Amino acid sequence: MTETLVPEQHNQQSDPQPVAQAPKAPALPDAQTVTFVKHWTDRLFSFRCTRPASLRFRSGEFVMIGLMGDNGRPLLRAYSIASPSWDEELEFYSIKVQDGPLTSRLQNIQVGDEIILRPKPVGTLVHDAILPGKRLWFFATGTGFAPFASLLRDPQTFEDYDEVIITHTCREVGELTYGADLIESIRTDEMLVELIGEENLAKLRYYPTTTREESAKMGRITDLLRSGEVFSDLGIEPINPDTDRAMVCGNLAFNLEIKELLEGFGLREGANSEPKEYVVEKAFVD
Ligand SMILES: Cc1cc2nc3c(=O)[nH]c(=O)nc-3n(C[C@H](O)[C@H](O)[C@H](O)COP(=O)(O)OP(=O)(O)OC[C@H]3O[C@@H](n4cnc5c(N)ncnc54)[C@H](O)[C@@H]3O)c2cc1C
Ligand SMILES: NC(=O)c1ccc[n+]([C@@H]2O[C@H](COP(=O)([O-])OP(=O)(O)OC[C@H]3O[C@@H](n4cnc5c(N)ncnc54)[C@H](OP(=O)(O)O)[C@@H]3O)[C@@H](O)[C@H]2O)c1
Repeated sequence: MTETLVPEQHNQQSDPQPVAQAPKAPALPDAQTVTFVKHWTDRLFSFRCTRPASLRFRSGEFVMIGLMGDNGRPLLRAYSIASPSWDEELEFYSIKVQDGPLTSRLQNIQVGDEIILRPKPVGTLVHDAILPGKRLWFFATGTGFAPFASLLRDPQTFEDYDEVIITHTCREVGELTYGADLIESIRTDEMLVELIGEENLAKLRYYPTTTREESAKMGRITDLLRSGEVFSDLGIEPINPDTDRAMVCGNLAFNLEIKELLEGFGLREGANSEPKEYVVEKAFVD
C-alpha cells in the first residue's frame, strides 16, 4: 500500500508545501492485470488480462509480454493474441517450459497479478496479407493454435470466405482441448453465434489430429495432406490456388514442410506488403 503523508499544518493559502510520500513499490512498465487463468494440461495454460486502452490490433497479430526479471529488467517473449480484436480483454494460450526463463514463472500467475504487455502488435497471420479467396485454411500445431483462436472469433473470417477449415495437430489428445473447447463455443455460445452469424457456422470445419496418442484421427497433417486423406475425409476438392488461401503457425520443421506442400499446390507466400495465397508464422523459436 502506498501511504501519503500530509504535513499537519498545511494551509491552502500559503506556498505549496512539499508532500512527503512513502517509497512506492516499483510498478511494472506497461502493466496489465490478469483476470482469468486456466490450466489445460501440465504443459499448457491460457489466461486473460486487461487490455490497454491504446492497444489496437488485427486479429492474428502478436505482442511482447512478460514479467520483471530478477535483474530488474523486463523479461519478454513474443505471444500471439488469442482473443479477437473486438474483445475488451486480451487472451493468451501458453506453453509451460519447465526451465524456460519466462514460462517457468508465468505458469504460476494468478488472477490479480500483473504482467508486462508492450502494446505494439505485429505479424503476418492477418487477413490483409492474403488475397481474396473462397476457402480459408488454418494449419496449426501445438500452441500455434493461438492466432487462429483470435481469427476464428473474428466475423471477418466468415464474411470473407465460403468455407473455413482449421487443422490442429498435437502429440496427445489433452493438448487439443483448448482448441476443441473454442470451436465448441463458436458453435454454441449465444454471444459468439450471434456475432458470427448462425448462417456462417456451417462454413466452419474442424480437423484435429494426434501423433502420439490414439484419437479419432491419427497422423501429422502434412502426411494427411500428401496422401489426400484430409480432402477425402472432408469430402472436398484438393487445394487449388484459384480458390484456396492458407495461414500456417507451428514449429519450424512443420512450417517448412507445409510451405513446400502449399507451393506444390500452386500457392505463393504473401506478406503484409504483398498479399498472396498463404502466410506463415513461427509458433516458437527452436
Ligand atoms: C511470433 C511468435 C509467437 C509466439 N506465440 C506464442 C504463443 O502464443 N504461446 C506460446 O506458448 N508461445 C508462443 N511463442 C513462444 C514464446 O515466445 C516463448 O518462447 C515461450 O513462451 C517460452 O518462453 P520461455 O522463456 O519460458 O522459454 P524460451 O527460452 O523462449 O524457450 C525454450 C524452448 O522451449 C520450447 N518452446 C518455446 N515456446 C514453445 C511453444 N509455444 N510450444 C512448444 N515449445 C516451445 C523451444 O524448444 C524453446 O527453444 C511465440 C514465439 C514467436 C516467435
Ligand atoms: N508434447 C509433449 O508431451 C512434450 C513433453 C515434454 C517435452 N516436450 C518438448 O516440447 C517441445 C515442443 O513440443 P510440442 O509437442 O508442444 O510441439 P511439437 O514438437 O512442435 O509437436 C506438435 C505436433 O506437431 C507435429 N509435428 C512436428 N514436426 C512436424 C512436421 N515437420 N510436420 C508435421 N507435423 C509435425 C508433432 O508430431 P510428432 O509427434 O510426429 O513429432 C506433434 O503432433 C519439444 O521440444 C518437445 O521435446 C513436449
